[in-house]
Amino acid sequence: MAILEVKNLKKYFPVTGGVFLRRTGWVYALDDVSFALNKGETLGIVGESGCGKTTLARCLMGLYDPSDGQVIIKNQVISSLNSQQRKELALNLQMIFQDPFESLDPRQTVKQILEEKYIIHGKNSGNLDSTINQLIKRVGLLPDMLSQFPHEFSGGQRQRIGIARAISLEPEIIVCDEPVSALDVSVQSKILNLLLELQQTMGLTYIFISHDLSTCFRQNRCHVSGKDCGNGRCR
Ligand SMILES: Nc1ncnc2c1ncn2[C@@H]1O[C@H](COP(=O)(O)OP(=O)(O)OP(=O)(O)O)[C@@H](O)[C@H]1O
Ligand SMILES: [Mg+2]
Repeated sequence: MAILEVKNLKKYFPVTGGVFLRRTGWVYALDDVSFALNKGETLGIVGESGCGKTTLARCLMGLYDPSDGQVIIKNQVISSLNSQQRKELALNLQMIFQDPFESLDPRQTVKQILEEKYIIHGKNSGNLDSTINQLIKRVGLLPDMLSQFPHEFSGGQRQRIGIARAISLEPEIIVCDEPVSALDVSVQSKILNLLLELQQTMGLTYIFISHDLSTCFRQNRCHVSGKDCGNGRCR
């Protein structure tokens, strides 16, 4: 059974103009997109700048309401959920952003950034400090770094913090919106390896957005044989 299903998804943005800002047309950012994804699979989405990749990611996350069509996660249609149900859904669905600098609050320490999700979802009852220590080690950073601020890290380290935040609540699906395109090539491969390792250990399902086809194929490497799957999708 599919964990995530997108049916005939459309998202149109109005274009306004003139003195009264009347609608003069539409931007067809998503036009009839459909796919289904099983647990543990990676779906690569590749396309040129402006073709609607981030719009798709935002519709999947429930940040945009679609103009038409449905996003169904574990048999729940996202647009029909109320705010409490959307909050619960966020436990299962997380996002890794393109720019690790902009996606982290510069005024918060790493510890505060990582604690936030546990507090929002009321999961801060047990020993939160040791959970956060485990979490930071899991993404290849050191617990000593928890007291530092985002500007004290390199781009790759910042993206590791973003990944730690995304996996903190142990979601099933992660939407990765160009997670390595802001990083240099040597760091890109380390981050991709980390994402692959986390997928294997946590059974994650990825939607992997990129404008670089080779990055997507790299991510679709077969878990079992370690070789590229012929069809680019790992089952
Ligand atoms: N909130 C918005 N309001 C109006 N138009 C928007 C909005 N968000 C996106 N668009 C338009 O929708 C189209 C798709 O944008 P989107 O950001 O999804 O592209 P993208 O594929 O992620 O591009 P990139 O690779 O540069 O990140 C663009 O033409 C953009 O101008
Ligand atoms: Mg984008």
